[in-house]
Amino acid sequence: MRTTELFLGFVASSPIILLVAAQSAQELINSVLNPPPGSEHYSSYSSEIYYNHTLYNQTPIASTNYDRLEASAKLLLPAPAYDYAAGGAGLEKTVASNRAAFDKWQIAPRVMRPVQPRRDLSITLFNRTLPAPIVMAPVGVQTLFHSTGERATSKVFGELGLPYTLSTASSTGFSDVAASNGAGNPRWYQLYWPSDDDLTRSYLETAKANGYEVLVVTVDTWDLGWRTRDLDRGFFPFIEGVGVQIGLEDPVAHEKLGFNPLASNATMEQKQMAALYHTITTSRGISPVWENLWKLREVWGDSPILLKGVQSAEDAKLASQWGLNGVIVSNHGGRQIDGAIASLDALTSIVEAVNGSMPVGFDGGIRSGADIFKALALGADFVQLGRPILWGLAHEGEKGVRHVLKSLLAELEITVGLAGCSDLGQVNKDLVTANI
Ligand SMILES: Cc1cc2nc3c(=O)[nH]c(=O)nc-3n(C[C@H](O)[C@H](O)[C@H](O)COP(=O)(O)O)c2cc1C
Ligand SMILES: *[C@@H]1O[C@H](CO)[C@@H](O)[C@H](O)[C@H]1NC(C)=O
Ligand SMILES: *[C@@H]1O[C@H](CO)[C@@H](O)[C@H](O)[C@H]1NC(C)=O
Ligand SMILES: *[C@@H]1O[C@H](CO)[C@@H](O)[C@H](O)[C@H]1NC(C)=O
Ligand SMILES: *[C@@H]1O[C@H](CO)[C@@H](O)[C@H](O)[C@H]1NC(C)=O
Repeated sequence: MRTTELFLGFVASSPIILLVAAQSAQELINSVLNPPPGSEHYSSYSSEIYYNHTLYNQTPIASTNYDRLEASAKLLLPAPAYDYAAGGAGLEKTVASNRAAFDKWQIAPRVMRPVQPRRDLSITLFNRTLPAPIVMAPVGVQTLFHSTGERATSKVFGELGLPYTLSTASSTGFSDVAASNGAGNPRWYQLYWPSDDDLTRSYLETAKANGYEVLVVTVDTWDLGWRTRDLDRGFFPFIEGVGVQIGLEDPVAHEKLGFNPLASNATMEQKQMAALYHTITTSRGISPVWENLWKLREVWGDSPILLKGVQSAEDAKLASQWGLNGVIVSNHGGRQIDGAIASLDALTSIVEAVNGSMPVGFDGGIRSGADIFKALALGADFVQLGRPILWGLAHEGEKGVRHVLKSLLAELEITVGLAGCSDLGQVNKDLVTANI
């Protein structure tokens, strides 16, 4: 009885009949309920959830709805950790604008097109074919959210073949993340550009040696924003030695410090000094400038270099003129300037200015598969996930991350199909309408 209901549910929601007109009833049911290994697609995740409940009375580890996911993560996390991730600059107007901008656009679907159960979400980016246009945003200090931190997030992105970006403020080092991410998987490295060129060179060389193939230079956080939630409790994890692992492990930093803070005989004072050294060299209030980009190119060679934190069409054009290989439209999740434009509002003019000359990534406020669809329809080539993944991480580490990522992929595939598209080439501005 339950199986029958389940089966009818599937037929109602996917155009399977088109595919398998000659199948027997049993074959059809089996192909949906027990897809042969390798034939599952992202939207199969919903079948898995329904099936698990029917068979084992089991429900997912966390909600499939972002608001409920964040609410349960909040209950699981220490208040300073929750606020560190949830908070933004000042009155948090930019955080709110990032979200509100998604409501200005609505999806206008097309119907009666020959769409099949498996939609092609793949893209080609920097010499890689990726199964979906989704990248882990660089997020520091992930052990705040679960003891497994970056190891868990990088593992799950690796499993799914999606790029993982390691932050300079990581609580786990280059080689440990490379190992958990898995050989051959796409790995990116996000640089907070140190004020000391020797350190910069060393970080980039270690990144290269560990298989990080795209360099993301964050240009909006050379000084820390006015983060009211953290200021009110004086919470700054880096001073306590969390989120400084890249500095602690760095051989050039050891030379400059005159000691190795990770040596078994290192004192507490030495560890703290090394933590401060990394934090200060990577955020001491001196802006990076276009004229110094050659220093990165010299070390990074011809491999891709992207600028993250671009919000103006003029800067995107300059990025192209200065030989960058792409930009990521981002305002750091509203954590840097209060009362700034929404990142999604910046996207359209940047896409126009860039005019296909280089890839344009996007982040800021993505909370659902439908949000991803909107960003892609407005011209983003790929999107980055930030806070949703952290809330997943709070739910038992990799299990929660896997659930959140698979949920977003499933909803994206479902939305692409229900909007009448078979692949991302068909997802364009005609499918969204401004709601003003
Ligand atoms: C807790 C936290 C830590 C972050 N750390 C970094 C970082 O180390 N480097 C960086 O470039 N961006 C960092 N970001 C910004 C993200 O890369 C991304 O731009 C932002 O999270 C997007 O907004 P959203 O999460 O609201 O979608 C961080 C964001 C959060 C929430
Ligand atoms: C479904 O159950 C299996 C077996 O217990 C488990 O491995 C899988 O993670 C579950 N899936 C979901 C979405 O809960
Ligand atoms: C692109 O990838 C191919 C095969 O994966 C490799 O042989 C080639 O060297 C790569 N090119 C660049 C520019 O990285
Ligand atoms: C730790 O050991 C190293 C090498 O054995 C030595 O050079 C260093 O001075 C020691 N550090 C401290 C703080 O004792
Ligand atoms: C944008 O790119 C297209 C195709 O490459 C080109 O034909 C067009 O002239 C460009 N538009 C502008 C404004 O540069």
